[in-house]
Amino acid sequence: MTRVTLDYANMLTPGLGGRGLDPQALEGELNERFREAFQEVEERRQSGEMGFFALPYALEAARTVQELADGFAQWFENLVVLGIGGSALGTTTLRDALLGPSWNELDEETRDHYPRLFVLDNVDPRTVSHLLGRLDLRRTLFNVVSKSGSTAETMAQYMVVEGRLRESLGEEPTRGHFLFTTDPSAGVLRRIAEADGIPALEVPPNVGGRFSVLSSVGLLPAAVVGIDIFQVLDGARDMAERCRNPVLKENPAGILASLLHHADLDQGAPIHVLMAYSDRLRSFAAWFQQLWAESLGKARDREGREVNRGPTPLPALGATDQHSLLQLLMEGPRDKVVVFVGVGGAMDPVEIPPVRPDLPALSYLGGHTLAGLLRTEMDASREALRREGRPNLLVEVPDLTPRALGELFMLFEIATVFAGALYGIDPLNQPGVELGKRLTYGLLGREGFERPETGTGDHPWRV
Ligand code: PA5
Repeated sequence: MTRVTLDYANMLTPGLGGRGLDPQALEGELNERFREAFQEVEERRQSGEMGFFALPYALEAARTVQELADGFAQWFENLVVLGIGGSALGTTTLRDALLGPSWNELDEETRDHYPRLFVLDNVDPRTVSHLLGRLDLRRTLFNVVSKSGSTAETMAQYMVVEGRLRESLGEEPTRGHFLFTTDPSAGVLRRIAEADGIPALEVPPNVGGRFSVLSSVGLLPAAVVGIDIFQVLDGARDMAERCRNPVLKENPAGILASLLHHADLDQGAPIHVLMAYSDRLRSFAAWFQQLWAESLGKARDREGREVNRGPTPLPALGATDQHSLLQLLMEGPRDKVVVFVGVGGAMDPVEIPPVRPDLPALSYLGGHTLAGLLRTEMDASREALRREGRPNLLVEVPDLTPRALGELFMLFEIATVFAGALYGIDPLNQPGVELGKRLTYGLLGREGFERPETGTGDHPWRV
């Protein structure tokens, strides 16, 4: 069985010509730091705080999701997920990585009669109107996903959709077009579900939004469009097992977290670029950005002391961004680490035919494949960075299967909580986001929330 692996030679002094980390530290100082971080995470996992660890093992819940999904897939042509942030990004990643970013443009037969899958993830009125205007609402299911059941953007999306459905289908049939995914007891969605008899899946209370892709949040939409969710969970389980090892060099998530943490705090490289060499992983890079930023960007440590910590994640796409970011990565400030994600396997080969054998500027390409070119571009970029003493890692995905995506999700989620422990902060909370949410409620006049002074009113500082 082929697995996702991590090649970190280009983070170490021998590869980087004296820069980077002395490999001995992996058995010394870094291993010690990691042991403590591992212990902290292990205690929090065992106490039930880190519910995402248990998701790959929750096969009974996955079977319930599958049954529900099978029914919906027969009835509906379109599934629209209403949600934002952690309630949306994982689903988009599952769709794009496993079905391709143009899934919704394929005809029904090519989709094997599975529904299209749209994820709103915003309240831009043009996007919302455009989408609702072109879908046949009679054949569309709306999955409202909100852990808290109160986020303003998602509730607004839901209300707009409910209004449209009532208008075009009438009040009674409208109910049959909703499925909620939310907390088992808290929040207004749960109350509506109970009052109106709308089916509602549960997000376990100990699983936060950005760690929820392997719960019903991501699994239901994935199953509706025919993704093998059991394979996704299988890969995630395998990675979870590999990461239950307190020895740093044997723990993929430990290595990822420790090297990125070390690059930030000990080597002045707080910008962590995730550069995936596959259009199918563009959304994965966005998912990683949210996970890394919202989990690790914290003003206070776990003792409440002000620390203002957090690396800056930057999503990128190879080879496209070689013609945008690479110059900066190669010659700009030495404040970045690049995490390359390379994909192997049976990609559509697309050969480059030798159509211009007489032109040396083109003939060298003839006979290669686009997949081979993409791989070579990545290998060349890694080597170029290495020669400049610029640290980089390679996450190697042998083939972009449901199993491999499960491994990737788990690798980065576990790395995030290890990194949280190394930084000394709590990766599970998001007080900054919560403040923004409360201010929005207050400004929109929600009962129980004060209208705040915004400081953005009358002042001369505008030109
Ligand atoms: O990761 C998180 O916790 C957030 O990004 C949430 O997912 C986002 O704010 C949406 O929250 P909710 O699912 O409660 O509507």
